[in-house]
Amino acid sequence: MEKEIVIRMEELTKLYGTQTAVDRLTLSVAQGEVFGFLGPNGAGKTTTMLMLLGLTEPTSGTVRVCGFDPARDPLKVKEIIGYLPEHVGFYEDMDARQNLRYIARLNDIPDRISTARIDRLLEEVDLAGEATKKVGSYSKGMRQRLGIAEVLIKEPKVVFLDEPTIGLDPDGTNRMLDLIQALSRERQMTIFFSSHLLDQVQQISDRIGIMIKGKLVAAGPLAELAQRGLGLEEGEAYTLEEIYMKYFKEA
Ligand SMILES: Nc1ncnc2c1ncn2[C@@H]1O[C@H](COP(=O)(O)OP(=O)(O)O)[C@@H](O)[C@H]1O
Ligand SMILES: [Mg+2]
Repeated sequence: MEKEIVIRMEELTKLYGTQTAVDRLTLSVAQGEVFGFLGPNGAGKTTTMLMLLGLTEPTSGTVRVCGFDPARDPLKVKEIIGYLPEHVGFYEDMDARQNLRYIARLNDIPDRISTARIDRLLEEVDLAGEATKKVGSYSKGMRQRLGIAEVLIKEPKVVFLDEPTIGLDPDGTNRMLDLIQALSRERQMTIFFSSHLLDQVQQISDRIGIMIKGKLVAAGPLAELAQRGLGLEEGEAYTLEEIYMKYFKEA
């Protein structure tokens, strides 16, 4: 059976003044898929996510998330999606549990339900041991994992993560990538995440999209992009460096 399409963009375009941030983007993501949205700074990744979230309106084209138009039905979309922005803010004087409780209440989740959920989430993002420390004392990696817990508190169907590994050290990066992969495998969530680093994206993505200057220049499983882009036969070896040179250096 064909998998349900959860994210659908057609000819999606965003202009800021005369500058085209996203240029006729057509792309679909299926239920349960991990989609890695790759591209250098300024490629239009964040702008695309903001349109998917209903936080900025497209100039033209269409966008649907679980069948809803985020610009027209922002509350519906907000109910079913979770979003980790590039810069997450917390209440620094509160601990992890208090921050999560606050977000749960904002989302109208009663305490009797959120209490158990918060405990489970703290375990899941590996912060249970630090749950009573003020978030102001957290490392960048801990903050990002708490951000993931906040995203998950309302049990979204689709998760958008904007550069979730930016600024993390190698250990923090690996923990974040493992966590994202676990969300996909254990919760069957649809995950759309952006990064400017090909090696991180390819580790955990079912499919990759490459954005350059607002345009999607390639989309598919990495092996397919390699075959097509480098003109290789099936099974022929390639390196990430070659892919990078092909798609990024030519743009
Ligand atoms: N609010 C804004 N006003 C004007 N230009 C913007 C705004 N947000 C982004 N841009 C421009 O749009 C382009 C795409 O930016 P962005 O979506 O943030 O890319 P990325 O997330 O891939 O780094 C960039 O050239 C950026 O300068
Ligand atoms: Mg960005």
